[in-house]
Amino acid sequence: MEASHLLKQIAKCEQEAARLRKEVQQLENQTTGGVPNPVADESAEVILNNKLKYQIHHLKKSIAEEESKLMQHATSVLTLLNNTFTIAIRRAYPAASVTNIVKHTDQPRFGDYQCSAAMAIASSLKNSNQKTSPTEVARNIVSCMPPCRFINKCEVQGAGFVNVHLQPWFVSQLITDILKHGARPPAVEKKRVIVDMSSPNIAKEMHVGHLRSTIIGESISRLLEYVGHDVLRLNHVGDWGTQFGQLIAHITETRPDFSTSSLPVEELQALYKEAQQRFKTDDAFKETARSYVVKLQTGDPQVMAAWEKICEVSRRGFEAIYQKLGVTCTERGESFYQPLMPEVVKDLEAKGLLKEDQGSKVIFIPGHDMPLMVVKSDGAFTYDTSDMAALRHRVVDEKGDWLIYVVDSGQGVHFQLIYAAARLAGYYDPEKVRVDHVGFGVVLGPDKKRLKTRSGENVMLRDLLDEGLERSMAKLVEKQRDQVLSPEELKKAQEALAYGCIKYADLMHHRINDYVFSFDKMLEDRGNTAVYLLYSLTRIRSIIRTAQISPEDLAKAVDGTKISLSNEKELKLAKCVIRYPEIIEHVLDDLCPHTLCEYAYELCVTFSEFYDNCYCIEKKPGTEEIINVHMDRILLCKATSLVLETCLHIISLETISKM
Ligand code: ARG
Repeated sequence: MEASHLLKQIAKCEQEAARLRKEVQQLENQTTGGVPNPVADESAEVILNNKLKYQIHHLKKSIAEEESKLMQHATSVLTLLNNTFTIAIRRAYPAASVTNIVKHTDQPRFGDYQCSAAMAIASSLKNSNQKTSPTEVARNIVSCMPPCRFINKCEVQGAGFVNVHLQPWFVSQLITDILKHGARPPAVEKKRVIVDMSSPNIAKEMHVGHLRSTIIGESISRLLEYVGHDVLRLNHVGDWGTQFGQLIAHITETRPDFSTSSLPVEELQALYKEAQQRFKTDDAFKETARSYVVKLQTGDPQVMAAWEKICEVSRRGFEAIYQKLGVTCTERGESFYQPLMPEVVKDLEAKGLLKEDQGSKVIFIPGHDMPLMVVKSDGAFTYDTSDMAALRHRVVDEKGDWLIYVVDSGQGVHFQLIYAAARLAGYYDPEKVRVDHVGFGVVLGPDKKRLKTRSGENVMLRDLLDEGLERSMAKLVEKQRDQVLSPEELKKAQEALAYGCIKYADLMHHRINDYVFSFDKMLEDRGNTAVYLLYSLTRIRSIIRTAQISPEDLAKAVDGTKISLSNEKELKLAKCVIRYPEIIEHVLDDLCPHTLCEYAYELCVTFSEFYDNCYCIEKKPGTEEIINVHMDRILLCKATSLVLETCLHIISLETISKM
């Protein structure tokens, strides 16, 4: 986020707090306090006084709110440095235009962060015949830096890099901030975000392809909510179209009792397949099916009731899965947009965007061969029409200023066409509304082909989750956890592990790539896996528990303890901990959750390195008696756990106290 915006926001909060404080002062002058006023009617006096006190109370509350707004955000060191270097470059080279100039470095010899702007500036100066070298440019930049107390030193190195070393006290202060206020998000401009996620199809079971859209959608939504956006998660289920007319025709014929009897999800899926088969081969059925499509479109009560029932059955199946995975979203399927479509079509027609193409109405998008199909030759609307209506509704009615579509990359062209057509129609202004297609690759089997069952069918999500439960229990038994945990704890661990590893294995891969689904790999307790992360968190928590410090004493220690970070491993861990705001900013930018997974993993590895090298609690040799607690290190453990918990929450891993 732009520093200027942040500064403006802070100034606004401060102004508001000052104004409120003044108002309180004025009101306090008006109340009579304890001194009785002999002239005034006493009861009126009391009422007035109470009223004023009430107002003061509320004003004071809003002052506290305004002030706490200032405290709600964490510092992103990377943003801080980017802003600092931008200022320096503007001073040294006013004509240069560079962005994203600072990067974090992994190698201590290059400092903590590195600015690489000098190379680009030097080469553009050379192009305009000004003699200079990157090193010289780098030196100039450094000499123009505003005073920064948080920087220990800036070195110009190599081909013109500026290596930045942070002040340990600054790192320590950010750790204290985390301990005092929790792992707060970095400041963002608040937005209304509509996330299109999960979106399976009614009457079909959710298969592994919908797993990704569900898991990635959930994680992105959690991230957006965490930083304070107003998020509406929409489940754009496929619940409308001719296939439902066919299905209802088939069910009415073969299962006349269906409206009163129960209908399991699996059966619904089988009926759906039968209906499709019959439609292809049976001419008489084709006719009946067509009449049912018309009945559905015209809202025939009996057919609508059947449709409702079908949706209800499917919905129950989806809900069961969402509950297991800890996912929430609001169902708003294609049917919701049906009544809005005629209006959208009229509007597109009026704007001259619709072209006749063999009886159908389409929109041609410059640069694309395939047009958008808006109205088919038989007058029916399509998937394209519903997405046009949905986009317009999300901007105009839902007032979304950020639309996110978590849908497989296979639909990339579809969304490009939809977004382009929507811009042509003026449904959104890209300057004001951010629109992202968050695409993702395919889940593969061990043969590197699309994951299928042995008989070549799509793998059902339900079966996959059940297998996960079996596998995670086997793992826990193998590790003899069944002998340590109570049956209840064991069940909790089993579920957290099964669903956690499935989710994590998905999120940890760059979403654009395909990945091979392997229970064996995802259940390993070493390497970048959910098991390792969950285990690390339980370990950190148990260290803090072992120190036997009450929450009150821990809170007191935050104020009274100097976190000196004098040990190299302490400093390394602390520097890793304070990076989380910049990681969050990164993921907000490219909506790729794997970066957060990588960070969480690095945090755990760095913690482990710290713990192997630094005593936190010293015990009398050969006994359990605690003789020394290194409070500063316990606080560092605490800050690590606060950040790790936040990451795991966003990754949507259920944490457990024992495993
Ligand atoms: N139901 C569709 C499918 O299973 C996904 C819908 C995605 N969302 C959208 N607005 N088109 O492929």
